[in-house]
Amino acid sequence: MGRSMIRPQEPAPGHRQLSFKRDSYTYTVRLDGHASVTVEDAPDKITEPIFVVVGAGEFFQSYLIRHNGAAYRVAVDYLSKEHGLGLDAEADPAPSLEKALGRRHSEKYVRECFGCHSPASVAGEEIDLVHRPFGNTCEVCHGPGAQHVALERAGKRLEPAIFNPGHLSAKEESDFCGQCHTTADAMREQKPQGVQSVISEPYRLETSRCWNPGDPRIRCTACHDPHQPIVRKPAAYDRYCLKCHAGSKGQDVAVKSANVCPVKTSGCITCHMPQVAVPDTPIVYFDHRIRVATVGTAFPN
Ligand code: HEC
Ligand code: HEC
Ligand code: HEC
Ligand code: HEC
Ligand code: HEC
Ligand code: HEC
Repeated sequence: MGRSMIRPQEPAPGHRQLSFKRDSYTYTVRLDGHASVTVEDAPDKITEPIFVVVGAGEFFQSYLIRHNGAAYRVAVDYLSKEHGLGLDAEADPAPSLEKALGRRHSEKYVRECFGCHSPASVAGEEIDLVHRPFGNTCEVCHGPGAQHVALERAGKRLEPAIFNPGHLSAKEESDFCGQCHTTADAMREQKPQGVQSVISEPYRLETSRCWNPGDPRIRCTACHDPHQPIVRKPAAYDRYCLKCHAGSKGQDVAVKSANVCPVKTSGCITCHMPQVAVPDTPIVYFDHRIRVATVGTAFPN
């Protein structure tokens, strides 16, 4: 998670130069230490340096640039090694070279991206990529600021010290991670209909039957180590489920044990955390509403 943004002078993992064709326009993105984007509609073309690459490429990457003093989000994103560049779902229709380049945005919009992808780079209205901490650094979760934001919501105060989020309850931690991953309350306010709510892991998890706001076996960091890249092997998660669902063989049965699966004893998430594609985003989410997902029934909001 530390590489939630990449500075233009740093080579991006996986690719150096990519092209994409859209009608008469050709896009070229260079990420070879002199990051730039070019859009060409021969004989005309615009080239601008990339100001910052958003995303580590775990799911996708987007590019922010400045053109004639204004901020733009480039119309193409990097999707994956296999798919290369693709058109951003919100890209402008392209009646001109300038519109083809990307969508124009306010400086506030740019600061919002930094708010979740590199909060410490922003001081007031200024974004400083050189002198201030870059990316989702340790301070984001361990600094005094992190403590303040997390506990204000929960209506509590801790002694000022190096903040250890390990002391949070499952509910407090869900709100803490939810600052950037969308809290359950924030998602409830949107009155979610359909698959869109899966982007809020806190909302989905808290509305699953496994949820218990005081049980450390179901908090975010029971399954994710924020200091390591996400684990992509389904079988690796079995042991976390079995902390509660192993009946009398559970490791923590003293606390409380839940029902045992009548169907299988391994690969739990492949059936109970179905993958969901959200329209207009390239990310396929694992639904954190842990459940018996029955084919043919409506998606539970
Ligand atoms: C300051 C904002 C912020 C906070 C706080 C935060 N995250 Fe994230 N997280 C992000 C961003 C941005 C990404 C995607 C960027 C990337 O892939 O590097 C991400 C990605 C992830 C991923 C998936 C991809 C990966 O690279 O590992 C997991 C899992 C995750 N976060 C878990 C957590 C947990 C658990 C917490 C709470 C302990 C948390 N996050 C708190 C911003 C945040
Ligand atoms: C409220 C917090 C938040 C804001 C604001 C935000 N993001 Fe993100 N972004 C995330 C999180 C969290 C993820 C990880 C995927 C997930 O769980 O949704 C992410 C993922 C991404 C990714 C994919 C990262 C990867 O490693 O593959 C890109 C690209 C991205 N965001 C771009 C942007 C841009 C551009 C903006 C500004 C318009 C922005 N984000 C604003 C929280 C945020
Ligand atoms: C996304 C949030 C997040 C980020 C970023 C993060 N941590 Fe943590 N850290 C946690 C959480 C949550 C815990 C408690 C749960 C655990 O141990 O995994 C923790 C625990 C720790 C602990 C153990 C503390 C104890 O008393 O047991 C250390 C040490 C630590 N982190 C160091 C770091 C360092 C160094 C960095 C930067 C390289 C970092 N962390 C970045 C969330 C984060
Ligand atoms: C903190 C303990 C805990 C953890 C961890 C946990 N569960 Fe649960 N789960 C429960 C409880 C309690 C229930 C509700 C009563 C029961 O089924 O025993 C439940 C219910 C379920 C149900 C039935 C849901 C329904 O809609 O009828 C499934 C399926 C399930 N869990 C699967 C899993 C899987 C898979 C994992 C790991 C990804 C997991 N659980 C992790 C405690 C937990
Ligand atoms: C019971 C285990 C479990 C718990 C608890 C859990 N997750 Fe996950 N999470 C997973 C699994 C499994 C994946 C998919 C891993 C893969 O890609 O193979 C995942 C994926 C993610 C991702 C990547 C995007 C996505 O949704 O697929 C993010 C971000 C994330 N989790 C954040 C969180 C946050 C925040 C919390 C706490 C509210 C949380 N998780 C609690 C098991 C868990
Ligand atoms: C091949 C798909 C599959 C896998 C893998 C799987 N399950 Fe299930 N599970 C099901 C189905 C289907 C049901 C519903 C059975 C029924 O209602 O008769 C179910 C039911 C459950 C229930 C509800 C039981 C009850 O009595 O309410 C729990 C809890 C559960 N599974 C947990 C798990 C855990 C934990 C794992 C991993 C050790 C796991 N499942 C692996 C398909 C699966």
